[in-house]
Amino acid sequence: MEIIVKENYQEMSLYTAEMVADLVRRKPDCVIGFATGRTPVGTYQELIRLHKAGLDFSGIRAFNLDEYLGIGRDMSKPYDQDQSYARFMYEELFRHINVKEENIHIPDGLAKDPDAFCAAYEQEISKAGGIDLQILGIGGDGHWGFNEPGASLSSRTRVENLTAQTLDDNYEAFYRKAGIPREQMPTQAITMGIGTILEARNLIMIANGSKKAGIIAKALQGPVTSAVTASAIQLYTGKAVVVLDREAASALRNLK
Ligand code: PGA
Repeated sequence: MEIIVKENYQEMSLYTAEMVADLVRRKPDCVIGFATGRTPVGTYQELIRLHKAGLDFSGIRAFNLDEYLGIGRDMSKPYDQDQSYARFMYEELFRHINVKEENIHIPDGLAKDPDAFCAAYEQEISKAGGIDLQILGIGGDGHWGFNEPGASLSSRTRVENLTAQTLDDNYEAFYRKAGIPREQMPTQAITMGIGTILEARNLIMIANGSKKAGIIAKALQGPVTSAVTASAIQLYTGKAVVVLDREAASALRNLK
């Protein structure tokens, strides 16, 4: 695992976007795993800028990590204002680049049979040839996607119950400003499993801010444990790059 420490959020985002852009230039039909959350917003803004400057996303295939259960983008209806991760991805990235609609895959929080959907999602990833680069944040409770503490490190795409900490974090990040009461937040999600994530050929994990310092130190340098599912990065055998700002890196030991 390579750890890159950047001075601030902006530099972290530029560096990450450049890694993604490199892949898109080298392999125009690459398969990219996208993440939601506050952390990747700057990266996506930079990718939009690169697209305006000519970067072509028309061949890429996109697979998102996760989605709340019970909400999602109903493709048959006009664009709406739910807090789904589908809406987030369209607003923050997909609407602004030339990725083809048929190449966008986001777990369907409105699936009638979520278990069957999860199995089919795994098959879709395999059919696409696997994920070339998975972008990951890290939750305050150490999650990757919505793989909450206790999730098996070999887990596959499935329905997961969200922890109180995740609900609190996401309420603050997204729901409060939309005026949605916390009680109305979905409490379950569909998420790629840790086993699914570890099969990607490359990982890029990003984190910023002092609030992430403790959990980053646990994930990267603590014991590998399902109590911090992102610690699975230590088991990963492909190429993993962790891009942090100085604050998120501040609790790491022996940084070169
Ligand atoms: P955040 O979420 O980027 O909003 O901090 C990260 C995550 O939950 O993976």
